[in-house]
Amino acid sequence: MTRSDTTTHPYLGTGAKGHLIGGRVCPAQDGRLFDTCNPATGEVIAQLARGTEADVDAAVRTARKAFEGPWRSWTPYQRQALLFRVHELVDQHYDELALLETLDMGAPLSRTRAFRGFILQTILHYATQTANLAGETLPNSLPGAITTLNLRTPAGVIGGIIPWNGPLISQWWILGGVLASGCTVVLKPAEDASLSVLRVAELLHEAGLPEGVVNVVTGMGAEAGAALARHPDVDRVAFTGSTATGRKIIEASTVNIKRLQLELGGKSPDIVFADADLDVAVPGAAMAVFSNSGQVCYAGSRLFVERSIHDEFVARLTAFSKTLRVGNGLDPKVQLGPLISARQLDRVMGYIDGAAAEGAALAGGGQRLDGDLAKGYFVAPTIFANVHNEMTIAREEIFGPVISVIPFNDADEALRLANATDYGLGGAVWTRSLGQAMKMVHGVRSGTLWVNCYGVIDPAVGFGGTRSSGYGVKGGLHHLEAYMDTKSVYIKP
Ligand code: NAI
Ligand code: MG
Repeated sequence: MTRSDTTTHPYLGTGAKGHLIGGRVCPAQDGRLFDTCNPATGEVIAQLARGTEADVDAAVRTARKAFEGPWRSWTPYQRQALLFRVHELVDQHYDELALLETLDMGAPLSRTRAFRGFILQTILHYATQTANLAGETLPNSLPGAITTLNLRTPAGVIGGIIPWNGPLISQWWILGGVLASGCTVVLKPAEDASLSVLRVAELLHEAGLPEGVVNVVTGMGAEAGAALARHPDVDRVAFTGSTATGRKIIEASTVNIKRLQLELGGKSPDIVFADADLDVAVPGAAMAVFSNSGQVCYAGSRLFVERSIHDEFVARLTAFSKTLRVGNGLDPKVQLGPLISARQLDRVMGYIDGAAAEGAALAGGGQRLDGDLAKGYFVAPTIFANVHNEMTIAREEIFGPVISVIPFNDADEALRLANATDYGLGGAVWTRSLGQAMKMVHGVRSGTLWVNCYGVIDPAVGFGGTRSSGYGVKGGLHHLEAYMDTKSVYIKP
């Protein structure tokens, strides 16, 4: 059965939804609930269990028991077959998942539906990883006939803390790592967008996942999230979110020296040289920020444009931004949805209002949208021109549809300005010159860099950050290291 009707979906409406622990739906131990909204309308769409330390503890104990249970003896082939069944079920239920995500966090259907291929591909990617978790045999110079090897074993119970800007996608990095490696997990989705995470966990059980391998505790970051991060029986934490919260997770990890995988904030440089193909670079640079209304960790929010084309580029960027359809994403023609919450709206409008005072020139947008959209948290695609790298809008992560265009004179200056930040997540260069492109590829301090494109990600290649944007690549050759221990073994026959 697919449930793609907004009025009858059992997740929507007044019936309270619980945590999912040990394969069973259960309320918070103290019975408390919280509301989750549709940011396009401001309406409460569901009530969820407000997890406490006690709920997290119950989920972690369940995950530990499952880790030590029959799941441990599942062969790689069995985990692979499970992931193939999961792939089937997610494919069958994809429209329903996309709809839940659109209602819960506002990204338009045009976006949530478009991720179908990426998500299915990611599941298959991790299905193949189950059989590729090899250790190594190593030469040694020991006396006697001792054989030495490095054995890889699953790390144990993972705590997965997920942000709200795209849980339909971001949960798979964690679920893929957990199911490929044979770990178990307690997921804490963001309070503003938990529904797709709860629904996927149900589908996993439908596919035959043993109880307790994947558990979901809903609730607030400072309550359920913090309890998970500091729990002494959680072996690893995978976290995506703000650098400020990432710092708290690092502090909490000292309790039991948890290893972490952190993908934090960004202020990524997007560098356009005068020789770039502007027909490609203008929409590319615009959507490097406006996609998901700017709520993307790797948004190219510092747009460095070579001075000789600055004014032309700003004019074309502004014209392009006016063609974007902003609105309630249930309309399939809508390209940009609302911000996630009233809190994020205030935050983004605070940056916009502060920019003029610092001397940035508003070239387009700059206001909250009213009329039919007044009940939601909509901001017009906004462009500031002639920004300096030291202005607040060029230093801090805004996480809204706001581009700061910063002129530069030559490649050395572009590189110096691009690297004058604490962050190091994404970045791009647009040019026809291979030499210029390679100078940026080697010189920009970031975990990911695109040339003449932006934001394309393949699970087999991976994506990650450096400096204050975190550590531990998602996807690629090294992702599974975050879910595995290495044991050095010395065997004397
Ligand atoms: P956040 O980093 O606080 O939230 C992300 C996740 O962490 C949520 O699941 C939240 O419940 C959880 N969390 C919050 N406090 C926690 C704690 N003390 N211990 C454990 N888990 C905790 O981000 P927030 O407050 O929702 O958004 C604020 C800003 O963070 C945004 O404006 C944006 O700049 C940045 N952000 C960046 C994201 C990224 O993908 N890089 C994603 C979300 C937010
Ligand atoms: Mg919501």
